[in-house]
Amino acid sequence: MIETLALGSAVIVAGHRGYKSEYPENTILAFEKALELGVDMIEFDLRLSKDGFVVIIHDETVNRTTNGTGEVSSFSLAELKQLDAGGWFNERFAGLPIPTLEELCELLERYPHVLLNVEIKPSIHSEEVADKAVALLETKELLDRCVFTSFDANLTAYLHRTYGVRMQGFPEQEMHNFKQGPEGTYSQMWAIGIHMPLLTPEAVERYKTMGLLPWCYCPDNAEQVEYALGCGVTLMTCNDPVPAMQAVKPL
Ligand code: G3P
Ligand code: CA
Repeated sequence: MIETLALGSAVIVAGHRGYKSEYPENTILAFEKALELGVDMIEFDLRLSKDGFVVIIHDETVNRTTNGTGEVSSFSLAELKQLDAGGWFNERFAGLPIPTLEELCELLERYPHVLLNVEIKPSIHSEEVADKAVALLETKELLDRCVFTSFDANLTAYLHRTYGVRMQGFPEQEMHNFKQGPEGTYSQMWAIGIHMPLLTPEAVERYKTMGLLPWCYCPDNAEQVEYALGCGVTLMTCNDPVPAMQAVKPL
């Protein structure tokens, strides 16, 4: 399914942390709103609570995206659930909780074709997060619809070796623990994430030659979308998915 989309003429549009431009990132509301737009994929970030639950939050701390302070991994799930993950964005979203991966899986039962971009953030817990996420996604019969993402080459290697899942990595300058050579990090990737400022036709051609699908983030207006398409990308992760949807999936 993912291969058909990304290797054919279709372009995959993913909602970055849900529908990040309009709703508080990585909340169930942000995912639901992206899904209502009809995106092909939703992207989200995983971390571990103190008591071992896989939760969806981008930063190492809760400081930026909740009303709390401290490292995510210093809170139990019950404590994380007390935090407000919506009010920082706009007071009309006050009271939205940090979701668990399991809660997102429940939402996805209503969207049987949507694809998942599962980013595991670098931390001392990343292998445990990966193991728990893979197990849960397999139980929920969602694993075939996933691409995993990591900025850590050690975790990329671990996921590739242990589970054989599709991986999105990044250019070597952006990855921790990058390894060169035939068994190196690029060989473990399915796609390569290219930040908009680094996106050029030459970069896309180079990665395609290496067998990597070019995946850019985040084209958020019509001009950027047109440029990205002109460069030859086949996957786009957008804070605002609307311009990309309009360009590649016109009604
Ligand atoms: O998939 C690309 C993107 O999600 C990586 O950046 O900062 O949103 O985790 P960030
Ligand atoms: Ca991410």
